[in-house]
Amino acid sequence: MPEHTFRVNGEQVTVDVAGDVRLLWVLRDILGITGPKYGCGIDVCKACTSHLNGEAVNPCAIPVRDLRPADEVTTIEGLAATAGGDLHPMQQAWLDHDVAQCGYCQPGQIMAAVALVRRVAAEGRAITDADLDGLRNICRCGTYARIREAIRAGAENMT
Ligand code: FES
Ligand code: FES
Repeated sequence: MPEHTFRVNGEQVTVDVAGDVRLLWVLRDILGITGPKYGCGIDVCKACTSHLNGEAVNPCAIPVRDLRPADEVTTIEGLAATAGGDLHPMQQAWLDHDVAQCGYCQPGQIMAAVALVRRVAAEGRAITDADLDGLRNICRCGTYARIREAIRAGAENMT
């Protein structure tokens, strides 16, 4: 089988797997990185949301053959390191606001939130209700109100 090389959470990895295998399964089943959750597997629920070169993506929709050696995949496991602490400010906000219920969707929620805050900051503006409305990560426990509060709090502590 072909080899595919890319970076995950700051380290280069090489996997020997068919090119059409989606990144989510490579992360979870081959590399043992289980923070990105399997929800739908068809690019809808966003439980698997992670970052590719700093932008939010759904790894269940990315064939591993599309990744290049310089591509950096960040999962919830690697998020804190991007902020240089034990917890990323968004993770701390999640704890402060006691967001999680069952927890299953929460890694994806946090990764989507961080990408949103970064994007809005790059545009030189504050986060709006419309930005928050645009997040489509599904939470079957219905924690949406606490998610929105935590994102606003976490955004204040992100540089
Ligand atoms: S598992 Fe990736 S979007 Fe649902
Ligand atoms: S906390 Fe249970 S699905 Fe979101």
